[in-house]
Amino acid sequence: MYRKTYAEIDCDILTDNIKNIKENYKYDYYIGVVKANAYGHGDYIINSLIEGGINYLAASSLEECLNIRKRNNDIPILCLEKINAEYLDICEKENITITITDMAYFNSLDLTKCLKAHIKIDSGMNRLGFKDKNEVKEVFDKLTNSNIILEGIYTHFGTSGMWDKYYDNAIEKFKEITSLIDLTKIPIVHLSRSLTLVTHPKIDFANGVRLGIAMYGFDQNMNEPTGLRKIKRNMYLKKHHISPITFKNNLKLKTALTLHSTVMATKEVKQGEYISYGAKYIANENTKIAILPIGYADGLLKENENLTVKINDREYKIVGEICMDMIAVKIDDKVKINDDVIIYDDIKKRCKQIGVSAYTLLTSITTRVPRVYKEKEKITEIKY
Ligand SMILES: Cc1ncc(COP(=O)(O)O)c(C=O)c1O
Repeated sequence: MYRKTYAEIDCDILTDNIKNIKENYKYDYYIGVVKANAYGHGDYIINSLIEGGINYLAASSLEECLNIRKRNNDIPILCLEKINAEYLDICEKENITITITDMAYFNSLDLTKCLKAHIKIDSGMNRLGFKDKNEVKEVFDKLTNSNIILEGIYTHFGTSGMWDKYYDNAIEKFKEITSLIDLTKIPIVHLSRSLTLVTHPKIDFANGVRLGIAMYGFDQNMNEPTGLRKIKRNMYLKKHHISPITFKNNLKLKTALTLHSTVMATKEVKQGEYISYGAKYIANENTKIAILPIGYADGLLKENENLTVKINDREYKIVGEICMDMIAVKIDDKVKINDDVIIYDDIKKRCKQIGVSAYTLLTSITTRVPRVYKEKEKITEIKY
């Protein structure tokens, strides 16, 4: 790497996270969701996930699935979005499982292809999936007499169901939409994602779970509401017959990614001079600043303005507007050129500070930023 701005990922943490989830939640299939370059971690990590016990992977597009395939020949990979029927040869060759999302798509498929498929049910989100039980039955019956193996069926929950009835409704809808087929004939039934996994009892007819954000260290532990909020919530749950949820779980997950940069230059700024674009930040005293080679084109969102970074274990404040490629940080004499800078290492805290979700923060780190992987004693650098 020539420019020392990078994301460091501890692969051993990821492996331990999966082991910890598996100890706490028993399923036959742990489907690791590695879309968006494994939530920003980079698809290099997939073998660490497999080492922890992930036995299926899922990504959004055929492009993503093929990138993952380059890193592992054996693991089955489910594509969560439709793959145009003209590319099914590639799926056949590369062992990519397709998702059948609707009747028009099903009718475009060549049923002589030797493929695995999962049916997607729309249980209320109105994204992809079947809403009509007769269509599901038709697909089920036709697949039984075709070369395409119906390996799985799933849905995706739009809410956690912690404050609303939608989770309970979604389960009922799933049951209804699949009521004309025999679910026990389908090897993998997977409904939950990280949040619903830890907040609700196991869905008795499901034997798989799709794990995204939990694998990357977000345990979803929450503080139970207290006082008036608790009373209001309990009344609401009772009135609408909403099933109870768990706020605390026993998971001990850790985040694995830290974002680093370096001190590229230092500079004295006189009182009254401005720093960065727009002349919005004016130094109110003689000030020393460091210029770091990281900006919003690396994924350092503008919301980070005025927050601090860590240099030699001390906090220093970002001053002035975040540029495309650089930021300025107010420093003291202890900071030297080429010092390592931790932009953030506590992702949960940073998310709170800037008001974005962990999903947004992690996936906003762009491919311009090389990823440096630590696993056991080995260090591997990858530029995506
Ligand atoms: C279809 C599907 N399944 C599973 C997941 C994983 O969700 P989570 O990261 O909340 O576990 C996602 C993520 O958005 C998804 O779109």
